[in-house]
Amino acid sequence: MCGISAYIGYREAYPIVVNGLKRLEYRGYDSAGLVIYDGKKMQLSKTKGKVSDLELITDKEEGRKKGNIGMGHTRWATHGVPNDINSHPHFSQSGDLVIVHNGIIENYDTIRKELITRGYVFESDTDTEVLINLIEEVKLNEGCKLGKAVQLALTSVVGAYAIAVFDKTKPDELVVARLGSPIAIGVGKEKKEFFIASDASPFVEYTKNAIYLEDEEMAIIKIGKKVKVRKIHDDSIVDPIIQKLQMSLEQIEKGGYDHFMLKEIHEQPKAITDTFRGRMLAKENMIKMSSIEDNLDKFLNADRIIIVACGTSWHAGLVAEYLIEDMARIPVEVEYASEFRYRNPIITDKDIVIAISQSGETADTLAAIKLAKSKGAFVYGVCNVVGSSIARETHTGAYTHAGPEIGVASTKAFTTQITVLTLIALKLGQANKSLSDEVFENYIQKMELIPKQVEKLLEIDEHVKSIAAVYKDATNCLYLGRGFNFPVALEGALKLKEISYIHAEGYPAAEMKHGPIALIDENMPIFVIATNKGHYEKVVSNIQEIKARSGKIIAVVTEGDTQVRDIADHVIEIPDTEDALTPLLTTIPFQLLSYHIAVMLNKNVDQPRNLAKSVTVE
Ligand code: M6R
Repeated sequence: MCGISAYIGYREAYPIVVNGLKRLEYRGYDSAGLVIYDGKKMQLSKTKGKVSDLELITDKEEGRKKGNIGMGHTRWATHGVPNDINSHPHFSQSGDLVIVHNGIIENYDTIRKELITRGYVFESDTDTEVLINLIEEVKLNEGCKLGKAVQLALTSVVGAYAIAVFDKTKPDELVVARLGSPIAIGVGKEKKEFFIASDASPFVEYTKNAIYLEDEEMAIIKIGKKVKVRKIHDDSIVDPIIQKLQMSLEQIEKGGYDHFMLKEIHEQPKAITDTFRGRMLAKENMIKMSSIEDNLDKFLNADRIIIVACGTSWHAGLVAEYLIEDMARIPVEVEYASEFRYRNPIITDKDIVIAISQSGETADTLAAIKLAKSKGAFVYGVCNVVGSSIARETHTGAYTHAGPEIGVASTKAFTTQITVLTLIALKLGQANKSLSDEVFENYIQKMELIPKQVEKLLEIDEHVKSIAAVYKDATNCLYLGRGFNFPVALEGALKLKEISYIHAEGYPAAEMKHGPIALIDENMPIFVIATNKGHYEKVVSNIQEIKARSGKIIAVVTEGDTQVRDIADHVIEIPDTEDALTPLLTTIPFQLLSYHIAVMLNKNVDQPRNLAKSVTVE
């Protein structure tokens, strides 16, 4: 959580830092701040609220925008409430050093008490102010340069961090470091300028050359010089690898849509096609996935597959459980990464762990991977962000290729995760002959149609909007599904909760009778997935039970359905496909529905309250 955007070079730093913060706001948005150095003064502006609030302040303080060095921060509060004082950047007591920080220093209280005994006074409640003063204390005590002081200070902290530190007595350099939270360094032409950010989006229009620091690495960035990278704990020198960015500016802009979420919903046909690319060879009736092929023995001889993930990615994992067990007959367990990592699970070297994550930075998923590896399991990653921590920590894996997802509510990440996981299930099912050639080929041919079907499905937008208008004032909603579509019911409910703040629960349709049915009255909208295969008659019975209690039914059905249409209050049709592939379609109406309800309720769709896009704290 939290976004860092910094610049050192020959351009005005302010617009680069502020625009960078706007692109990183998905990481946290409860307060924002920046410091610009003009060669004489450190000009600080910070405020509770969003980057747009910060801009309002700096607009009034025009003079504060000049200077070629700047560091900014957009915050998701961990220590200390979101207010002006707790916002970053934070200064050291002398006023010479300034820091922006993403992460948590767990032993900050002990360090703070120690520093207080040495005469330090703290203004804020943050762990970050403690860290910058610790760096200052080390620098004074050791009589060393900033880089060494940062390194020594970091050896005595426990926790996670990505930091950028500036010392006004050495104004041609910035020091950055990471442990557990990402940091990228954009290297400008002839090393005349450098960009530092939590991901590469703030500098994509300036340079395509980026260095991603690894955990426990720090870098000294000096104008005109090669970036010096070393390991924090053993002081060894690292030769930094400069990667070429694939990201483009259009990918991270709204492209005419009112919100990123809507843009990302509409990008799904392309995103799924991109996920297929090079893997789904429909003409040859083949799936090519080298990460599976190279490890086929491990997969086919595994005792079981354990899937670890959080939130929407966990829902994708649940779809995968149904898919892999159905298609490949390999036992699968799906675990919340946050529970798995702390519950002393039984893991052996005969287990395969699949970790799913859009951001590739989710702290609990990362910790679950490390635990599984330490017990000898083979770990496979399904990630969207290329080069992310999870992508690097897993033994192998597959990228989803959804492109940058900026709306906090996951949409295209979910469908592309399901796409990859379906390909894996099919590939394994073919390899161990759980699927006959005929069934496998039928799946391939149906799968190939999915992007076009999603495209067609998106035409229902106006219809879904009219349904959203009817139910936007509901205070509670139920989402029901069975089989492959039970996880879609969970995901539908999560989407509604997180962006419209309407309470919603997802349930397997048959579970309704074991409790939730008590909630049903004439005010309760119930969204039911009733596609025409798998358990159709059973779901129809569930719908009858709801109608008997006056609940309002909004049913997602297969096109041409007449039976449910006769009973439901509203129907939304999806194109026909195999039951196992329906999650790729049934999920779309629920995304649109949540989006329209949130817009009608005037909620901040892309940045819902209290949330952040990547949860890099546990
Ligand atoms: O980046 P990850 O996929 O690891 O993130 C996991 C969850 O935080 C994420 O899916 C979250 O639930 C979404 N905001 C839901 O829309």
